[in-house]
Amino acid sequence: MTEATASAHPNIALVKYWGKNPDDQWLPITPSVSATLDTLTTTTTVRDASEDRVTLDGVEVHDAKIAHWLAQARTKFGLPSIAIATESNFPASSGLASSASGFAALAVAANEAFGLDLDFSALCELARMGSVSAGRSMLGGFVRLDPASNEQVVAQLHPRDHWPLRMVVAVTDPTQKRISSTSGMARSASTSSYYSSWIVDTGKDYRECIAALADRDFPRLSKIAESNCCKMHALMLSSKPPLLYWKPGTLAAMETVGKLQEDGLDVFFTIDAGPQVKAFCSPEVADIVQEELQVTPGVDHTINCGIGDGPSVH
Ligand code: DP6
Repeated sequence: MTEATASAHPNIALVKYWGKNPDDQWLPITPSVSATLDTLTTTTTVRDASEDRVTLDGVEVHDAKIAHWLAQARTKFGLPSIAIATESNFPASSGLASSASGFAALAVAANEAFGLDLDFSALCELARMGSVSAGRSMLGGFVRLDPASNEQVVAQLHPRDHWPLRMVVAVTDPTQKRISSTSGMARSASTSSYYSSWIVDTGKDYRECIAALADRDFPRLSKIAESNCCKMHALMLSSKPPLLYWKPGTLAAMETVGKLQEDGLDVFFTIDAGPQVKAFCSPEVADIVQEELQVTPGVDHTINCGIGDGPSVH
């Protein structure tokens, strides 16, 4: 039997991707920068089967995103019918980027099981066919995804030990989100008058973020990451109908981070297409950040992780 298992970690964007290239659904319209996490892991086993079958955390599902990925991957890379069994140690579809780690693990496992022998660029494309952000989980440490790059679209900026930041996730609502990233960003592109400003600003934020990471300049990174995140949520809110991903606990957690900043702690927030707040911080203050977020009203629980590596084959 042809079978392989691979694991990958989610990544959290410091400069966000929110919008696809209209000519290529697997490429973003803007460049983005992320940090790959440790602790949170998706593990996926694929094997050949008489028909496609998918189990998520042990339960058989019909997942539209995976079905779409299978159709694309079959056309482009000749995948046979496969059985996919995937498990994550964190809640799916709640702003914790389970699709990024999921499609990165799936691409690596499929490449291994079926001897596709893809080079890094093609392997990233296979991951991006599921979710664009999955391309960034193909590497560890700090990663950039630049659709206009003359070299690799996905590249590592720095390995994880360049800057051992911590990230505390404040989970305010572990249930499934209402509007997927794919349909949310399509709505923003077609209905928000802020969309063209978002594209211009994000290009600038991208360059600024890369410089802040190179210099390990926390205040500079903090400013650019919070600002880029807030601009993405302003874009979401200016879409018609508006995309509101926040819950009361989201705002409360943002206020907690703001108070800790006033106390002089190196910490900043970022939020994706869900209600969870991710607080990046220096390792020295990670315990205080976690304690304060844990007692913030509306926060269900917290998860403390560091910067992690790229995918591995088992
Ligand atoms: C808000 O990669 O999940 O997390 O490509 O349509 O699957 P699709 O979207 P996805 O979008 C991630 C959006 C984000 C920001 C980011 O991670 O850059």
